[in-house]
Amino acid sequence: MPQFDFLIIGSGIAGLSYAAKLARHFDKLKEEVSIAVITKVQADETNTKYAQGGIAVVWAESDSFEKHIQDTMDAGDEVNKRNIVEIVVREAPERIQELIDYGTRFDKEKGGEYDLAKEGGHSDHRILHFKDITGAEIERALLEEVNRHKCIQIFTHYYAVELITQHHLGETVYRYREDIKCFGSYVLNRRTGEVEKFLAKTTLLATGGIGNIYQSTTNPTIATGDGIAMAYRAKGICDNMEFIQFHPTSFHQPGEKPSFLISEAVRGFGGVLKRADGSTFMENYDSRLSLAPRDIVARAIDSEMKKNGVDHVYLDVRHCDYDKFVEHFPNITEYCLRQGVDVRKDMIPVVPAQHYMCGGVRVNEWGKTNIEFLYAVGECACTGLHGSNRLASNSLLEAVVFGHRAYESTVANFENAVIPQNIPEWDDSGTTHPEEQVLVTEMTRELNSIMSNYVGIVRTDRRLKRAYDRLELLHQEHEDLYRESKVSVAICELRNMISVSYLIIKMAMARRENIGLHYNADHVHA
Ligand code: FAD
Ligand code: SIN
Repeated sequence: MPQFDFLIIGSGIAGLSYAAKLARHFDKLKEEVSIAVITKVQADETNTKYAQGGIAVVWAESDSFEKHIQDTMDAGDEVNKRNIVEIVVREAPERIQELIDYGTRFDKEKGGEYDLAKEGGHSDHRILHFKDITGAEIERALLEEVNRHKCIQIFTHYYAVELITQHHLGETVYRYREDIKCFGSYVLNRRTGEVEKFLAKTTLLATGGIGNIYQSTTNPTIATGDGIAMAYRAKGICDNMEFIQFHPTSFHQPGEKPSFLISEAVRGFGGVLKRADGSTFMENYDSRLSLAPRDIVARAIDSEMKKNGVDHVYLDVRHCDYDKFVEHFPNITEYCLRQGVDVRKDMIPVVPAQHYMCGGVRVNEWGKTNIEFLYAVGECACTGLHGSNRLASNSLLEAVVFGHRAYESTVANFENAVIPQNIPEWDDSGTTHPEEQVLVTEMTRELNSIMSNYVGIVRTDRRLKRAYDRLELLHQEHEDLYRESKVSVAICELRNMISVSYLIIKMAMARRENIGLHYNADHVHA
């Protein structure tokens, strides 16, 4: 029965930056601590690894904190928590410098200055990037930093099933009870098939996004909303779940999962959205044209597709300087070529795909949830930064700023945690290995269809009601299966995706006005 000082669930930018901070802190004090990072597959398979465009920070002389703050508030329709926006924007340069100190490379111009890109909704050039594989570069540098510290142990192919709270000691735990405590997690060792107890004085959820509840998403298959669902079951409070970001431009390739992203930075570089006949359309929707915030561009594309009865539009970069384009976007150029699209001659076929969850587990300005000794950072958390729509490249930034803040709060508080002696082992008596794997596959397909058809970019009251009713049936069926089955990753992921979908639908039904990413055709704009 392993017991740790700190348990971190997730090895993306949120989990690793928090782990690195803790390790450096205790190394400096020469104090011994134990830090466990668990990750459901190999350590670098995360949303972080796929990030392309970059990380936003006020770096240029022409830029200012005020401008970045205002752009973030504008994108989020002022639903953002202003104090959180100020914290993130103002603390950004220090946190980015730390990433650089860990060894992260960002592209520079010939003169040695950082090459700052521009993306939708940003009023200045402020995106640090490493070609079009910024996330992979950050993930590499963070993993190297984490591996330098002996106090950190990474458990790959370990899957967190449930958070441990007083509920597991037989107490009644209701959502607004103020003294709920987290003591760690029950974790499935995927190699042995056994569920182990990982006890810890402090637990961090850094489990990332939810993309796989939809048919098409830019997120890798690990993104199944596990952290949000586990926290919700443990009576954590979740916010803003109706605000799902659809990226306007994923490569159009029906059935491909994940969908390959054509970075927003391509539009920042000069790429223009067009119809098949080469005509432009963004002038009919927003004066910022192809560089309007994502919710506006995604809805515009959705409307064009419906009006013209087509399943994609195009992104034209044929007029751009090809050599510079390849230098900045080698990965995208190569991917397009592999699909038979030569960006010098052909327009890139694009379609919106689910990309990011703006909501999540409610946390305060220190990344703390309503459950004691449980923190949440990164895409699974809702800090209030993004409001109703995230500004491009603010996600990686939020994760490092809150990784740092959660670390500061944790070291001040973790010694107060007392782990009860009598936490039981995982009880799977009366369960068997499910023989009908096909049921899980089919239920996942059904869930994907419900969410994509009824809870997508444009919603209506009737679609949401239909989604709610269908989900109810799916939930019942799945609970029966779950109760009689030994846990498996597939069954748990589906359970979590159903819970997350329920939260999304419930919050979407409750919102009466259209704002940011939530658009219900039966209602008016706020
Ligand atoms: P992740 O990086 O997704 O890490 C989640 C971790 O949790 C993984 O290690 C996973 O294995 C683990 N995990 C999950 N559930 C469990 C479980 N039950 N048990 C054990 N482990 C578990 N943002 C930007 O700011 N700039 C960009 O340019 C950008 N580009 C993007 C491009 C793409 C294609 C995508 C998909 C996203 C992009 N984003 C971008 C968003 C950004 O990458 C993510 O929001 C961010 O990386 C999330 O980091 P995270 O640490 O919260 O989660
Ligand atoms: C992109 O490169 O377009 C993704 C940026 C982001 O999601 O912030």
